[in-house]
Amino acid sequence: MIFQSNHSLKDLNTFGIDQKAAWFIRVNSTSDLRHAINKNEGQHPIFILGGGSNMLLTRDLPYLVIQNDIQGIEVIKEEEENVEVSVGGGVNWHKLVLWSVNKGYGGIENLSLIPGRVGASPIQNIGAYGVELKDVFVKLHAMELSTGALEEFTKEACQFGYRDSIFKHTLKGKYCITKVFFRFSKNPKLNLSYGAIQTTLTEKQIEHPTVKDVSDAVIAIRQSKLPDPSELGNSGSFFKNPTIDKSNFESLKIKFPNIVSYKLPNNRYKIPAGWLIEQCGWKGKRIGNTGAYAKQALVLVNYGNATGAEVWSLAQEIAASVKAKFGIILSPEVNVL
Ligand code: EPU
Repeated sequence: MIFQSNHSLKDLNTFGIDQKAAWFIRVNSTSDLRHAINKNEGQHPIFILGGGSNMLLTRDLPYLVIQNDIQGIEVIKEEEENVEVSVGGGVNWHKLVLWSVNKGYGGIENLSLIPGRVGASPIQNIGAYGVELKDVFVKLHAMELSTGALEEFTKEACQFGYRDSIFKHTLKGKYCITKVFFRFSKNPKLNLSYGAIQTTLTEKQIEHPTVKDVSDAVIAIRQSKLPDPSELGNSGSFFKNPTIDKSNFESLKIKFPNIVSYKLPNNRYKIPAGWLIEQCGWKGKRIGNTGAYAKQALVLVNYGNATGAEVWSLAQEIAASVKAKFGIILSPEVNVL
């Protein structure tokens, strides 16, 4: 097992930012992962890389970067209504979606085409079109990076929230998620609550959709709004959608009668960050090598040779203008390194 030094990460992050890892190794089994941890002997801090689809590199990483390439999709339990499946952390997320859709299993069809790998999916509890990872999550296995010990985390232990879990807080950077266990349904109840899915199905004159129909609709919606990272570097939504309290919302509503909002159960209001950014005039605006995407202002893009610092400076400018106009603070959804 040889660690590569000064390894370029350009092809390993979907923003396509050209920074280097001091040391790099790719592992495809838990024993290889443990071997790498033992070989490192605590010398270099370890950073686990998945698909590199939720990060912005603003500098070279002075770490041992370990790319989790652990494969395998396995049905481990089959019941009348459900199947339980274990999936290696290095499996491409969309590959898992296609696998489940092709078998007619329901649960993650709304999460079609999300970039990244299975091992990273619980960290930010990925979500789209009314579904979140936690809805199908059973448990995970993760290796503690200082000891090489394998541990199991139940759903409760993961403390999932909106784009959030314990792995972004107290356990940040401490584990590598080696395997995730999901429960899929053999009699799927489709989630068509997101308007655009229903519209797409109606356009295609599909009255009784299957999981495949929903997956195809989501793929079409995403392709129409979101840039393909292989053509235009990006990390999906750059910021989280902020929430504000009722009184704040009511005064903004007077000032901005067209404000887009979703009422949450706890008397708070979620405001789409994409709307706030567009209102500040950023949609489709390009500054040097970077900009806010013309079809979805929440997605920042790399037009070619952007540095992470350039993207980060644009992000800060955008956040400052949203703060000045609406008094709302945007926080990044991507991991800024
Ligand atoms: N909007 C605008 N202008 C824009 C973009 C959006 O006005 O440029 C407004 C529109 O009113 C639109 C609303 O914002 O109806 C919501 O936009 P969209 O449906 O595109 O969803 P989003 O809230 O911007 C979230 C997730 C996405 C996920 C979609 C669909 C976050 C931070 N983002 O985006 O997730 O695909 O919903 O469910 O929660 C990601 O996390 O990387 C990601 C792409």
